[in-house]
Amino acid sequence: MKTIEINIPVEVAKFEELSDTDRHLVELAREATYRSYSPYSHFRVGAAIALDNGEIVTGANQENVAYPSGTCAERSACFYAGARYPEAKFLTIAIAARDTNGNFVATPIAPCGACRQALLEYEMRAGHPVRVILTAADSLYILPSVSSLLPFAFTEF
Ligand code: THU
Repeated sequence: MKTIEINIPVEVAKFEELSDTDRHLVELAREATYRSYSPYSHFRVGAAIALDNGEIVTGANQENVAYPSGTCAERSACFYAGARYPEAKFLTIAIAARDTNGNFVATPIAPCGACRQALLEYEMRAGHPVRVILTAADSLYILPSVSSLLPFAFTEF
């Protein structure tokens, strides 16, 4: 028997250290939190996806009184991108969240399992890694790909 280890490289950065392109994407993700519909959790999440056609698509969590009928910001953005620009490839996704007090979270939040699975499909369709920027009020985590967030993913049958 042997043990294998899976390491995930995570860059820890400050907003000021980002390129102009990434800064803009983070700003759009933050702005998208203001379009969250979250009357039940009061947790506002925004996502912004940069596409290879130059467009940026945003999404925000949309809740429903029948809780499972709502969706997360990441899936709202990625399904919208797929529906609006079916030929475009994802380059980077930035995710931001504000807590129940309305403040940007102190520690970056990461997408839920369902969103990781959904995003992975778009990474596979792109045929290259899709960078993931997880943001908090004063810090950021940058991951090289969606697959790094979802080891042992189910990808085919
Ligand atoms: N949520 C997201 O939109 N993205 C995440 O990465 C985690 C959670 C939403 C779902 C729900 O509307 C609220 O945050 C509380 O879980």
